[in-house]
Amino acid sequence: MKRVAILISGGGSNMVSLAKSMTGDHPARPCLVLSNRPEAGGLAKAADMGIPTAVVDHTEFKGDRAAFDAAVIAAIDAHAPDVLALAGFMRILTPEFIAHYEGRILNIHPSLLPKYKGLHTHARAIEAGDKEAGCSVHEVTAELDGGPILAQARVPILEGDTPEALAARVLPKEHEIYPATLRRFLDGDRSRVDY
Ligand code: GAR
Repeated sequence: MKRVAILISGGGSNMVSLAKSMTGDHPARPCLVLSNRPEAGGLAKAADMGIPTAVVDHTEFKGDRAAFDAAVIAAIDAHAPDVLALAGFMRILTPEFIAHYEGRILNIHPSLLPKYKGLHTHARAIEAGDKEAGCSVHEVTAELDGGPILAQARVPILEGDTPEALAARVLPKEHEIYPATLRRFLDGDRSRVDY
């Protein structure tokens, strides 16, 4: 049985969809939910599902990214995961961190990458007059939001859309494609699927 560590910063809805998918004949189980924010709502949800949790509070590291990442690595490696799934984890990881888990990190990003790397993706898509938006699951490499895309799902942008309305349309797609892509990834399938 493979082990998946899930990294969050917030409500953890993608974490929940991943964790719920890892039952029955699924080849993996969640071994850890780690947050960089002690108040992240996803921590209680993980605990309710019986998943071990950990917090490495980035504010205690006063901008020392290397020390923060070393602490995160120590917390993760205590649970010996095979794969890391970033699920709304809002910290930029150092190249050293990424190298430590090379080829074993997935992320979900709320845009049609390579468009709108970074933050405020939905506001930027609306502002640009785009007709569609979506989400991408990709492998994590040292380039921010730049690793190979494994899956993408699209939704329309509607007249008068707000970032919040668009986010609410995209999120269910995230919950669909992330578990499906994790499972393919665990099976060694790194081809791209467009939904
Ligand atoms: C999701 O929309 C995810 O795509 C996004 O944060 C949200 C987390 O929601 N991730 C990023 O923006 C990564 N840069 P959740 O905590 O409910 O899963």
